[in-house]
Amino acid sequence: MTTEAIRVQGLEKSYKDLHVLRGVDFSVASGSVFALLGSNGAGKTTVVRILSTLLRPDAGTAAVGGFDVLAQAADVREAISLTGQFAAVDEILTGRENLVLVARLRRVKDAARVADDLLDRFQLTDAAGRRVGTYSGGMRRRLDIAMSLIGDPPVIFLDEPTTGLDPQSRVEVWNSVKELAGQGKTVLLTTQHLDEAEHLADRIAILHQGRIIADGTLEQLKRLLPPAKAEYVEKQPSLEEVFLAVIGHHSGAADAPTTAPTPGEQR
Ligand SMILES: Nc1ncnc2c1ncn2[C@@H]1O[C@H](COP(=O)(O)OP(=O)(O)O)[C@@H](O)[C@H]1O
Ligand SMILES: [Mg+2]
Repeated sequence: MTTEAIRVQGLEKSYKDLHVLRGVDFSVASGSVFALLGSNGAGKTTVVRILSTLLRPDAGTAAVGGFDVLAQAADVREAISLTGQFAAVDEILTGRENLVLVARLRRVKDAARVADDLLDRFQLTDAAGRRVGTYSGGMRRRLDIAMSLIGDPPVIFLDEPTTGLDPQSRVEVWNSVKELAGQGKTVLLTTQHLDEAEHLADRIAILHQGRIIADGTLEQLKRLLPPAKAEYVEKQPSLEEVFLAVIGHHSGAADAPTTAPTPGEQR
């Protein structure tokens, strides 16, 4: 048993001339929720694809569940489930049929009972007999996350689980992620939303220009803010402010967003 569910060291990946990952390092403790935060195109999906053995890194090492993603790819696949950016459910089947199908494919005993239990836990019982084609985006994503629990993998990857969802569906998906966390699963989720990372994750890493530029608990990231600024603002700094402060620091672009209140100007 390892207390580190995921360990990534010096990961590099290019697509032709595009050097997307330039030495990515982080680790994720077993049973924790880890958010990989970055803008569109930062390389989040590339990291997830490498960790789930779908893509080979150019350099560096990665281990999931104690297994090396290159040398022990089959063991890694046994230990994980991956919920992609676009829901992988079958629209023609009902919610229940989708779950039963996946349970049978994964050779789970008592597939029907497992499906019913998941439908209940993810508030899909009422919609269980309807074709997924009639589901809202949030319901699909919840079904997708429910599916990821079939076979009981210890490590779950959620790649942008709420992108494209309305605010209400987003909250529903957040509750589903909390359900996974409550099960003691290790969850690595990617997001472009600072508040999402703030809300769900025990630990947050910011991926920017090919590297992790900040990594820590929310409290630790908040402390990265310049103290002079923290003195003037009345509310607690949000992760958004931390993000901007860290990015400004690393890229040399110190421009504050035009909408941010300037310290000292508050009345
Ligand atoms: N198969 C590919 N071929 C060429 N470029 C790619 C490929 N996959 C991703 N990219 C590019 O690599 C960068 C990182 O992509 P991605 O990992 O999907 O970022 P994110 O998930 O953070 O939005 C983007 O500029 C994207 O256009
Ligand atoms: Mg992506």
